[in-house]
Amino acid sequence: MTSSISQIPFEEYLLSLIPEEEPQTLFLPISYTLEVPGKRIRPRLVLQAYEMMGGKKPDTEAYPVAAAVEVFHNFTLLHDDLMDDAATRRHRQTVWKKWDANTAILSGDAMLVLAYEILARSQASDFRRLQEMFSRTAREVCMGQQYDMDFERRDATEVGVDEYMEMIRLKTSVLLGGALGLGAIAAGASEEDTRLLYQIGVTTGLAFQLQDDYLDTFGDEATFGKPIGGDIIERKKTFLMIQTAKIAESRGETKAWEAALATEDKSKRIERVKEFYVRYEVDKLIRDMIQGLSKQAVSLSEELDVPNRAPLDELIKMIRSLSERNH
Ligand code: IPE
Ligand code: IPE
Ligand code: MG
Ligand code: MG
Ligand code: MG
Repeated sequence: MTSSISQIPFEEYLLSLIPEEEPQTLFLPISYTLEVPGKRIRPRLVLQAYEMMGGKKPDTEAYPVAAAVEVFHNFTLLHDDLMDDAATRRHRQTVWKKWDANTAILSGDAMLVLAYEILARSQASDFRRLQEMFSRTAREVCMGQQYDMDFERRDATEVGVDEYMEMIRLKTSVLLGGALGLGAIAAGASEEDTRLLYQIGVTTGLAFQLQDDYLDTFGDEATFGKPIGGDIIERKKTFLMIQTAKIAESRGETKAWEAALATEDKSKRIERVKEFYVRYEVDKLIRDMIQGLSKQAVSLSEELDVPNRAPLDELIKMIRSLSERNH
């Protein structure tokens, strides 16, 4: 990924920011995490917003913002994998699995600090607005992650779909919204354009997390890079789980559903829960939700009146492809 008007590829810039210092036990897990590229969706959003809003100095104004957002995202993954007991990500062992829990905690903490250091390199004219949006977004991600864990301890029938949507808005969507909003701020865009871009990102992010939940059950591990069924094992209150519990209740099939959920053998449990999802057609329901949100994000994008059209077309293409992604 390279901004069309920048001097160096973003990837190279990002990797150059990892401190080459001692102790290696702190910094090695950071380069281990950042060197295997994820999809890099969030920095792409920052750069697209910056360029569509007419920003002219990506290297000094937008790259630091894009890198800060990606480092922040990767920090959340280190802690998330520990919280979710997840051993594999991006086809490799997660940090806590490869090293240990303390390493994931402390290298994660260092990444959060590093994200702020990198953000501070931006020479964008309104740095205070950048910092405010970055910090609010970061705090909201923590709020969403806490709801996600709180929901693990509640019955699926007790968690409303609206509560679930608010949880994923916080844990995932605000960071996609923040990425577009921050890119706009870095380019000096108006409050109104910034707000609209933020909203486009949040809507895209809701579809994005629903797709992540879908792939966690119906994806293919070889492409997804994460083991299938982790959400079922961790009793995550995904849309699939909440909706299935409610349908089971309305059909008087709660006992059978709960027996499936309580299956001792983990791979059998995943299979039996999946059978309910398919029988109740919640897999189709979630696909409809994803398509609906994706369309909503595209129509919001069409409301934008931007000085530079090419990055907007790219954004629209990306929104569409994210709802069909398999990794
Ligand atoms: C994973 O995000 C965490 C979620 C919000 C679902 P991504 O799917 O963007 O992860 P990478 O960075 O591409 O690996
Ligand atoms: C991720 O949610 C949200 C954050 C990391 C903030 P998930 O727990 O579903 O993400 P994956 O599936 O582990 O990537
Ligand atoms: Mg997780
Ligand atoms: Mg999680
Ligand atoms: Mg997931």
